[in-house]
Amino acid sequence: MSNHSTPSGSAATLVIVAHPDLETSRINKRLTAELERRGNVSVHRLYETYPDEKIDVAREQALLTAHDRVVLQFPFFWYSSPSLLKKWMDVVFELGWAHGKGGDKLKGKELLIAISSGGAQSMYQAGGFHNYSYSELLRPFQQSANLTGMIYRPPFVVSGIREVSDEQLEKYAVDYAAYVEGRPSLYGTKG
Ligand SMILES: Cc1cc2nc3c(=O)[nH]c(=O)nc-3n(C[C@H](O)[C@H](O)[C@H](O)COP(=O)(O)O)c2cc1C
Repeated sequence: MSNHSTPSGSAATLVIVAHPDLETSRINKRLTAELERRGNVSVHRLYETYPDEKIDVAREQALLTAHDRVVLQFPFFWYSSPSLLKKWMDVVFELGWAHGKGGDKLKGKELLIAISSGGAQSMYQAGGFHNYSYSELLRPFQQSANLTGMIYRPPFVVSGIREVSDEQLEKYAVDYAAYVEGRPSLYGTKG
C-alpha cells in the first residue's frame, strides 16, 4: 500500500498522519482508514514515508503548496506530538519559506489538529488530573499557525481512548471525515 495516497482531481486537503506504529494503533488506524476509504483527501503517513526520519524538505514543501487545508493527525504524546512531527515542523516550516522575510507560502491555508488522547476529556481542565484544556496544551500549534499566517481551526479530539467502544469509534470515524473535509457543522467558527 502506498504511504501517500492522492485522490484524482485537485485535492485541497492534506492529512499528515504521525503515528510511530499505525499497525498496532486502534484509534488512528481507524481514522486513517476511513479517510483512505473515502478518497477525498491526500493522506500522508509520515513515519512510513520516513522510517529513517530523514525528511525530504522540498517534497514536503511541495505537498503543502499543493493543498489549501492541512490536518496534523497524531496520538497525544506528552501533551504534544510524536517527535517526527515536531521534526517535520522544525525542518519544513523554514525561515524565508513559512515565516520571516518572503516566508508566506503557508499564508491563508487552514491548519487543523486531530488528536487521540489516553486521558479522559474531564481530566483536561483546571483542577483536573492534567490541569489544562486541550486548547491550552495545543497553543504551540495555534501560535505557529498565527506566525505563518495560517487559519487555525478548533481541534478534533478523541479522548479517553480506553473507554471508546467499537461503535463509538465508528461514529468518530464518520465525524472525523466530516471535520477533515471541512463540512461547516463541525466547525462552529467557519463562516
Ligand atoms: C510516549 C507516550 C506518551 C503519551 N502521552 C500522553 C499524554 O500526554 N496525554 C494523553 O492523554 N495520552 C498520552 N498517551 C496515550 C496516547 O495518546 C494513546 O495511547 C493514543 O492516543 C492511542 O491512539 P492509537 O490507538 O491510535 O495508538 C501517551 C502514550 C505514549 C506511548
